[in-house]
Amino acid sequence: MLRGRAMGERYPAAMDLPEIDGREFWDRRAEAWDRRSDALEGFSDMYGAPVMDALDPQPGQRILDIGCGPGTTAVELARRVGPGGQVVGVDISGEMVAAAERRAERAGVTNVSFRMVDVQDGDLEPPFDGAYSRFGIMFFTDPARGFANIARALRPGGRLAAAVWSRLEDNPWMFVPTLAAAIALDAELSLPGPGQPGPFSLADPTHLTALLTDAGFVDVSVEPVPGPRRITTASADDEVRSLLEVGPLGDAYAGANDAAQEAAVAAVMGALEPYADPEGWSVPGVALRVVAAAG
Ligand SMILES: C[S@@+](CC[C@H](N)C(=O)[O-])C[C@H]1O[C@@H](n2cnc3c(N)ncnc32)[C@H](O)[C@@H]1O
Repeated sequence: MLRGRAMGERYPAAMDLPEIDGREFWDRRAEAWDRRSDALEGFSDMYGAPVMDALDPQPGQRILDIGCGPGTTAVELARRVGPGGQVVGVDISGEMVAAAERRAERAGVTNVSFRMVDVQDGDLEPPFDGAYSRFGIMFFTDPARGFANIARALRPGGRLAAAVWSRLEDNPWMFVPTLAAAIALDAELSLPGPGQPGPFSLADPTHLTALLTDAGFVDVSVEPVPGPRRITTASADDEVRSLLEVGPLGDAYAGANDAAQEAAVAAVMGALEPYADPEGWSVPGVALRVVAAAG
């Protein structure tokens, strides 16, 4: 575990840190993800939209949304496949699935359904013409098993298109606020590195390509999608709170009293100073767009 500590003290290497836990972790995160999803959508979809465009879902198709979370992308996929098509959003968290069902109902979208299932070994109810995932496939504890299950769920030639995070060092938008807040909250923090389940597990394109190829995928391509996390001056306080609520420190932040939360926000604002520009802050980030076809 990484615990907030005085500046200058050494942090343990990422490889010493524990894994993110599956269902329970995401059930606890679901309320904040759901509440913040509209505000986060512009940022998430900066990386997710090029992936959906690469998948290019067609009217009438049946599409799987992997790790669908509170359902934003499943609703968009359902619009793209039209009334003759169908989208199935799957998520390990029942709380996320419930939020996704509410979102689809509010949107009046009826050609989408949601199921609570661990994509690594659950029955995905194939066949699908395509599979989409926005930041959902990096949390598998056994990615080889997960990718083989996805490959089996696709019709031959059906494509998987997914967004995953590039390396931690490419994503100061995540680690700068998180480390600053961990110190202020004196919080335990887990930021697992490459190869460990967590945001950066699939950050190495060579490793990712090998995993997909071994699982039976062909024509694998991995491309960087750079884009900054913009924070605007007018809404900075709320945006920083949003980052903390849905990030790795979500539990610690939610459990802190008002003063500690204020201190965490102030620490983040201080740490973001090098990224200031006339309109606010622009903190670099890089995702990877991976596209592969079931062999
Ligand atoms: C970072 S969130 C992304 C949510 C959503 N795709 C979005 O972009 O808003 C990751 C999601 O993956 C889900 N997830 C993690 N491991 C999973 C697994 N093994 N099977 C299915 N879903 C999983 C989590 O519950 C969570 O909803």
